[in-house]
Amino acid sequence: MSRYFFALWPDDDVRRQLEAVSDRLPAGCGRKVRTENLHITLVFLGSVEEPVIKRVRGDADGIGGRQFVLTLENYGWWKRPQVIWLGSDMVPGPLEELAARLNVIAAGHGLRVDSRPYAPHLTLVRKAKRPLTRFSYIPIHWEIRDFCLVQSVTLAAGAEYRIIQNWPLT
Ligand code: 2AM
Repeated sequence: MSRYFFALWPDDDVRRQLEAVSDRLPAGCGRKVRTENLHITLVFLGSVEEPVIKRVRGDADGIGGRQFVLTLENYGWWKRPQVIWLGSDMVPGPLEELAARLNVIAAGHGLRVDSRPYAPHLTLVRKAKRPLTRFSYIPIHWEIRDFCLVQSVTLAAGAEYRIIQNWPLT
């Protein structure tokens, strides 16, 4: 059984901008997420059996979400998961809608989803013991035209994420 999550996956241009932000982080701030792994989770599904993931994918085909622009302009630190993240002051309506619809799909297949309000964030650093101080970056305008289902595979070298399927937004 594999672990899966729905995500927003940066295109090459946004990924380069994210890498530039990550490169400017102070030394010793924690364990930086590898550039190729940077993403925003929409819904974390956890470990799911193959037949269930097939049905989830079928439902996602009919989701009909809208394209939007997400501006990453702020950052923060969460103490308990020990992460430093990039985020936005303004969560676009279509993003909230997309995450909510995917939650409904997941719950419909008996998967336990997060009941907390959706807080979109892009994790830059794990095992971060303290918040950043005096850090700033040039805002990133990310045009989001699709979303994807990702399989998380744990290898000796760390997590490897495999994109299983992409769905265009209209
Ligand atoms: P995070 O970046 O805040 O850690 C793959 O693990 C992705 O799923 C990560 O982006 C992670 O968010 C997210 N995720 C959400 N809930 C999770 C959970 N309970 N366990 C592992 N990952 C989770």
